[in-house]
Amino acid sequence: MSSSGGNRPRLAVLVSGRGRNLQALQAACADGRIEADLVRVISNQPDAPALQLARDAGIDALALPHRDFDSRADFDTALGAALREARPDIVALAGFMRILGAELVAEFQNRMLNIHPSLLPKYPGLETHQRAVQAADDEHGATVHFVNGDLDGGPCVIQGKLKTRPGEDVQSLASRVLQDIELKIYPQAVAWMARGELTCARGQAMFKGRPLPAPLSLEDLEASFR
Ligand code: GRF
Repeated sequence: MSSSGGNRPRLAVLVSGRGRNLQALQAACADGRIEADLVRVISNQPDAPALQLARDAGIDALALPHRDFDSRADFDTALGAALREARPDIVALAGFMRILGAELVAEFQNRMLNIHPSLLPKYPGLETHQRAVQAADDEHGATVHFVNGDLDGGPCVIQGKLKTRPGEDVQSLASRVLQDIELKIYPQAVAWMARGELTCARGQAMFKGRPLPAPLSLEDLEASFR
């Protein structure tokens, strides 16, 4: 991954909520597991705890309230400008709850990742844990994928699975998916991108020089991410 300016890839993170994924990414950058500089955090929610987390870590944190814009297109224009200003080599959506327009996705495609709390292609969209509980699925999990124009639809990179427990409630399942899976697979995926081992071209994820026909799994996690 050739970084644009400076000698390390530049990472920007988009958030909307509590920032647990941001926190995991920031910690991995701070301890060197992700060889990139976290240069900007942007949130569409001005009071998102994730923004305060970024400020407390001394990271440039920008609130871009989507309610301040007359249209989705206007918000995307402002978001695009704020991202461009950060000159990111990698953009990570981390609990970011806005659907990005095609133009913005096209500009950052192949360097934009998202984490989604389901075993994609199962359960794109919202309420994924609720849907897994209601369907009494025996396994569930989370997926890191490249962002393309489809909602939660881009090439999958890594997926973590866990066994559900009979009678487990949605909150407990969501917490296990977050703690046991999301907070491991996302820093790992960003670390691979920062080293240039994970790329995307023409809608195909490539890992260590070979096409990735199916998502990697928890077994592929490097020791420091387990
Ligand atoms: C996470 O479960 C993530 O998968 C989803 O949003 C939830 C909260 O994310 N996209 P965070 O605490 O803001 O990182």
